[in-house]
Parts: sequence; C-alpha cells; structure tokens
Amino acid sequence: MEILQGKKIVLGISGGIAAYKAPELVRRLKEQGADIRVVMTEGAKAFITPLTLQAVSGNAVADSLLDTQAELAMGHIELAKWADLIIIAPATADIIAKITAGMANDLLTTLCLATSAPIAIAPAMNQQMWHALATQANITTLKDRGYHIWGPGCGEQACGDVGLGRMLDVDDLVSLSGDFFVEKYLQGQHWVVTAGPTREAIDPVRYISNHSSGKMGYAIAHAAVRAGAKVTLISGPVTLNAPFGCELIRVNSADEMHQHALSLAPTCSTFVACAAVADYRVANVAAQKIKKTNDAMQLELVKNHDIVADVAQLTDKPFIVGFAAETQNVEHYARGKLVRKNLDLIAANDVAKSGQGFNSDDNALTLFSAVDHIEIPLANKTIVAQQLVSLINQHYLAKLNSTEL
Ligand code: C5P
Repeated sequence: MEILQGKKIVLGISGGIAAYKAPELVRRLKEQGADIRVVMTEGAKAFITPLTLQAVSGNAVADSLLDTQAELAMGHIELAKWADLIIIAPATADIIAKITAGMANDLLTTLCLATSAPIAIAPAMNQQMWHALATQANITTLKDRGYHIWGPGCGEQACGDVGLGRMLDVDDLVSLSGDFFVEKYLQGQHWVVTAGPTREAIDPVRYISNHSSGKMGYAIAHAAVRAGAKVTLISGPVTLNAPFGCELIRVNSADEMHQHALSLAPTCSTFVACAAVADYRVANVAAQKIKKTNDAMQLELVKNHDIVADVAQLTDKPFIVGFAAETQNVEHYARGKLVRKNLDLIAANDVAKSGQGFNSDDNALTLFSAVDHIEIPLANKTIVAQQLVSLINQHYLAKLNSTEL
C-alpha cells in the first residue's frame, strides 16, 4: 500500500517563485495515494495557473472566499473539515505573518483558522526575509501553536542570494508528508545506524572496498526517523542523500567508523550495524602513489576492529542489532555471529540469491534472536526497513521489560 493511501491533503500555494514546483508536488503526493485539493492565493496565481493545478490534482482549484459557485461545490468550512493535513508550500513571509496574526481575509488564511487539521508550513523566501526578526518571531509563535515547520532549505535562491530560505525539495516534502502519518512509536529513543562500505587506503589514490550501496542502512535510518527516533547515521562513502531529519556522519575507513560508533554507542538506545565494514586494512599505507615497477606486488593486511562486537563490550551497551550477509548456511553463520559478537538480534540475508541484498533495491531478511526467528519477505528495502524497525523495537521493549522486572 502507498504511504499516503486515502489521506486527504489540502495544498495551499502562496505567491512565491517556488510555486512553480507545486504541480510536481501534487503529482508526487497523488502517486503516494493522497487525494489533493489545491487552494491558491491571488499571489500564487501570478506564478502558476489554477488550470495546471486542476489538471494535476484532478480536482477544481479553490482560490476565492467569495465565489458562490465554488462554495456550492465544496465550501471553505467543508474543505477545512475534509483535510487530514494542510500543507502550505510555498509559504511566503506574508502568508506566515497573516496566519500568525489570525487574519482571515482570503480563502487560505480562513481555512487555517477554520480547520482542526494539522498544518505544515514549507517556508520559501529570500534569506534576509527568513532571518528578519518579525519572520522568526512568527515562526516561533506558529511552532508554539503546534504548526509543523518543514524547512526552509539552504542554497542558492531565485534572487541570487545564498542562504536559508529555499523551499525544501519536492522529494523531502513528499517524504515528510508520508512521515507525518506514521505513528511515532520510537519517540524519545536514539538510534545509531552504520551503513555503506568502508574504504581502506592503499596509497593516496587507491583503496580496498566492497559493493555495499548503503541502501539498506539508509532505509533503516529513514524508517526510524519516521517513527520518531533521533537517528545518527554513520555512513561510509555512498551516493545516497541522507534521509531528511537524521544526523549524518560521513566516514571513509573502518577506523573512523569505529571511533564514531564507540563514542556514540553509550548514549543511544539502539545500535544497528548495517555497514559492510572491510575486514582488513593495509598495514603500511604508502605516503605516495605506488609505481607499477614490479610484475607482482604484495599487500600486507591487518584485521580491522570489529565495530559491533566492540560496542557489545561496553558496560553501558545499547540494544544491538547486527547484519549477516551470507551466501550459504545462512542460519548457521548468522546464529554463530549473534553469539560470538554478543548481539541482541541479527538480520540475515542470502546474498547469493539474485534480486536481493547488495546494491539491489529489494531485500528479504530473517531476523534471529537467541530464542526465535522471524522472516521478512522479499520487498523494496523501504518496506523491509519499516518492518525491521518495528520488530527491533518490539524486541527492545521486551528486553527492557524483562530487565526491569
Ligand atoms: O563478521 P561479519 O562481517 O559477517 O559481521 C557482520 C556484522 O558485523 C554486521 O553487522 C557488520 O556491520 C558488523 N561488523 C562490524 N565491524 C567489522 C565487521 C563487521 O561492525 N569490522
């Protein structure tokens, strides 16, 4: 099922240049199963036409408080009651100020007063306007009133300035909309997730690494953020964007990953070791590029620290989940690692099977604890991660309850 299946979303568009992204936002929210009704301010219509939004949303666009025809179709009070969520994107400094002041002189501001639905605001304005004391005071007031403030992002602006004030990317807004409806069952927990490969330098231009894409670890981090956890993602070099809302620590080598993991682990509730850490590193990394003068060469390798096993040695250790990517005897090897590394759970997958595991978008896992095992069937890694995170939490809570007895 799509994340927003059956959800009723009102998208309010105010008059900023980022309004040109609104049709794409509508299309993507609909793709996720949402029913969208668009409300436009007069300013928004200077940037984009209601006809475009009507075509992509499949519903008439509401743009006037005083239009008798529109009020007959779905009046503003009905619209206010219909919505499960109101998103205002882009939200200009002006609409933010009007909403804060409780004004109701157009359809969008009236809706905000007349609804009991949650309201998310995606600010979009020049960086100076964003930093203005008036805007900041308005944002603080709206946050205090329970409004959700999504962004703004940082970067180059339409006016040429660089800084905070860009509307978040459509991808992030869609992702936040999906996150919004997920039960926040990990509220108050801190998860640390390792992901991706590590790179072990041979010389300044060469390294030893592996095919890990980081997709599984990133999907787990995202699923934990969606469920309300604070998440720190320690990631080796990958080409993925960090899931919105999680803290990203980029590393290269196993040593760097080890350092960060060991310093964060005592403060977290759950540690998920999803990284494909290189087992060995080069004993003597060459300071200069090695020249190919000989027909053969030998590298001396030394064993890396086992990060997850070291975390499991801590006196204040968190709940620990490891991964086992195997090509044969999956259960036997996975259970061996569970015991040897002193883990609470291990998620095992058969990487010899095509279409799952390394570099694939899909995965199937078996989650082993000391006493049982649960299958997570083949599916997109996003779905697998959501199930895995929920199962990890159930085991975590069970352990917490049993130690409290
Ligand atoms: O021993 P193996 O590499 O198969 O173990 C896999 C599990 O151990 C994974 O959870 C992986 O992230 C973790 N690991 C680690 N540090 C290493 C090697 C593996 O944390 N040096």
